Amino acid sequence: MHREDINALMKVAERPPQVFVSGSGSWLVDQTGRRYLDFVQGWAVNCLGHCPPELTRALADQAARLVNCSPAFFNEPAARLAQLLVANSCFDQVFFCNSGAEANEGAIKLARKWGAKYRGGAFEIITFANAFHGRTLATMSASGKPQWNQLFEPKVPGFPKAPFGDLEAVASLINARTAAVMLEPVQGEAGVIPATPEFMHGLRALTRERGVPLIVDEIQTGMGRTGKLFGYEQSGMEPDIMTLGKGLGGGVPLAALAARDAVCCFEPGDQGGTFNGNPLMTAVGCAVIEALLAPGFLDEVVRKGEYLRLGLEQLSAKHGLGEVRGQGLLLALDLGTDWAPLLVERARERGLLLNSPRPHLLRFMPALNVSAAEIDGMLELLDSLLGEHRVR
Ligand SMILES: Cc1ncc(COP(=O)(O)O)c(C=O)c1O
Repeated sequence: MHREDINALMKVAERPPQVFVSGSGSWLVDQTGRRYLDFVQGWAVNCLGHCPPELTRALADQAARLVNCSPAFFNEPAARLAQLLVANSCFDQVFFCNSGAEANEGAIKLARKWGAKYRGGAFEIITFANAFHGRTLATMSASGKPQWNQLFEPKVPGFPKAPFGDLEAVASLINARTAAVMLEPVQGEAGVIPATPEFMHGLRALTRERGVPLIVDEIQTGMGRTGKLFGYEQSGMEPDIMTLGKGLGGGVPLAALAARDAVCCFEPGDQGGTFNGNPLMTAVGCAVIEALLAPGFLDEVVRKGEYLRLGLEQLSAKHGLGEVRGQGLLLALDLGTDWAPLLVERARERGLLLNSPRPHLLRFMPALNVSAAEIDGMLELLDSLLGEHRVR
């Protein structure tokens, strides 16, 4: 690839020099033919790894049959995927879209519509400090990322924030203007911080008592990432609205808004989009969810998650680091000090792709079908990097 080609891409991120050309399972290959063990997987997107046969087959078959017929018409893969999601969750209806942020925009609009219709014009959605819900204007406003406080002002109003885990703070923010409460079951970008089951149940009881819908943003935690199909299942409570993205398409742009009948109040014309629910993407979504629902698949995610957690705990003890936290195959290692970006860079030089959502934290989001040998390989390399580059 030439310099001028790269310069023609709008610079919205600091990117390393590698140009990736192919991938298979847990491995990516760059332009020079070098292989990288990938524990980022497009930020928890490629849940079955790079180019899994289920996905490439579904894409090729569907591409040969029907790519797009307009969201104004029914198509078979969208209906089938909606049915698979409904049959395996507590929700009744699904709306498909193209990104996590768009799914959350849909959830925000649904809650505002519900508030307008059933709660005297209520429009506020209580969200949480350090939350991450996306990069559109409304989802940036819903997010609680301190670095965004002054960006793209003025913000979309109506997103009062509570400290994560503070039920009393949520209770004190609920008033006549409240249309919903929205949270990530595990705050991902904030540093992989799981909500406790007590907090999830507390929120459910509180929102039910005060008569407002509860929204879970499962864009990172959904689709098997935590070892259950959906993260809310970890606590056993059942929300009213859920958003999905990332793993739903296994790497292709597909996201969803799922809701219970009681809150499904969109009317024709309220919500939509040109590419929404197109057969090409939803056919892939069907192949992905069928793979996750295959007998034993999620049990294996739990086992691999425990194996990775144990390995990280051993590294933490050996190198005097901090906490290992998270659920399933969404795990983080707290380094105690801010040297995660350095480690990520050194790891990449050695052929390992890692992610650091915060300067003191490494996050691990491998393919859900990562092998024990690949986990061992990652831990071994990380062990040697931790020894070589210790920053005190
Ligand atoms: C919890 C959560 N919500 C929303 C988003 C936004 O999704 P997208 O980047 O597909 O718009 C993300 C992406 O990282 C996320 O982790």
